[in-house]
Amino acid sequence: MSSASTSDAPGAAVPLAFGAFDPARRADPYPSYRALRAADPLYRIPLGELPATVVTRYRDCVTALSETAWGRDEVGTNAWRRAEALDGGLRSFLRMNPPGHTRLRGLVSKAFTPRVIAGLEPRITSLVDSLIDTALAQAGEIDLIDALARPLPLRIICELLGVPAQDEQTFRGWANDLTRGIDPDYLLTPDELARRVTSSRDFDAYFTELIAQRRARPTEDLLSSLVAVRDQGDMLSETELLELCALLLVAGYETTVNLIGNAVLALLRNPDQLALLRADPDLMPSVIDETLRYDPPIQFIGRLALRDTEIAGRAFAQGEIIIVLSASAQRDPDVFADPDRFDATRYAGTAPAPRHLGFGLGIHYCLGAPLARLETEIAMRALIRRAPDLALAMDPPPYRPHLTVRSLAALPVRLSS
Ligand code: HEM
Repeated sequence: MSSASTSDAPGAAVPLAFGAFDPARRADPYPSYRALRAADPLYRIPLGELPATVVTRYRDCVTALSETAWGRDEVGTNAWRRAEALDGGLRSFLRMNPPGHTRLRGLVSKAFTPRVIAGLEPRITSLVDSLIDTALAQAGEIDLIDALARPLPLRIICELLGVPAQDEQTFRGWANDLTRGIDPDYLLTPDELARRVTSSRDFDAYFTELIAQRRARPTEDLLSSLVAVRDQGDMLSETELLELCALLLVAGYETTVNLIGNAVLALLRNPDQLALLRADPDLMPSVIDETLRYDPPIQFIGRLALRDTEIAGRAFAQGEIIIVLSASAQRDPDVFADPDRFDATRYAGTAPAPRHLGFGLGIHYCLGAPLARLETEIAMRALIRRAPDLALAMDPPPYRPHLTVRSLAALPVRLSS
């Protein structure tokens, strides 16, 4: 186990098994996951006063995500998350257990339906076309995150929530601060902790106003549908609506940026796989699933023992925290053939690979998966078709310090018009 260098560690020097601070690890964390997996299926890390256990193998991660003995840490005041963070955009039903989770997810699902998502296709297509037009007009070297991967999901989530174009950059700033704030508190600088709180308050104030406007004058957007949703007399309260907007922002934006970025990066590093995709663009859904397995935007998911239980033959007491290291589970050689290979056809055959955990599993399975898939597929199809000479201009590209979200700071590429 290599201990984390603390040179750029903002908080206490807590050793984190999967290497938070080493820039080399940031570029490729998978060898360290492999070492963890090989050493022990469960790795105990001291997390302030509260120890946590990292779960590294596939079948144990599946157990933790699907069995009712495991759930979310609803109270969440421990070394991982300080109390005021619950006033920091990190509430919502993602953090809840049944029955509260069941009720809220049910209500939201009535407005955020497959039909609503499918209806976005023409808008996503025209946005992608215009972003690629602009990128091609610049030609030469560009940052693909800035040119395509970021503006697409940002604009779509803004339009869904009814945020006008002139407020988009403000919204982006809040998203940055709240997404950074998902990482454990002890990894954040005092400035990052403070920004999480102020951005959350500004976000709440903005959306309180927007929700009031939609209540008075409903429009065609998702926010109006969420305000109006009813189920046998039940509805979303004002607070629940605010929490939901923050959840959609944090869960749905930076993740999609990185799904697009990680997929393009994997293809450009594996020209034989890119050639397969160019020859058969219908491999795109398989490429997306393979990216979610091979280099997932969400690297791990937290869980809490809701009662005494066990994993991998080891006992866990009620209240213990685990880190489900899904990005490691998906490279488990006991489950995935040749796991470190990016295989564009892995999910295309008649006997596809075991399911990945890139969108989670069980009752918290990602509600936005169809939207993320749609945006990524439309963007990637257009990019592959219109930029036949696309090439990496920097390898490895720079990463941001985030631990939970695998976040490309930029993806410099070359292309010609
Ligand atoms: C590539 C993009 C995305 C990835 C990798 C991703 C990943 C995930 C994961 C791993 C979870 C499960 C968390 C857990 O079990 O605790 C989750 C939940 C969730 N995601 Fe996504 N997500 C993506 C895009 C989106 C989008 C576009 C939206 C909506 C706009 C969204 C909304 C949600 C919501 C609401 C939940 C909570 C579901 C629940 O607790 O029942 N996600 N996502």
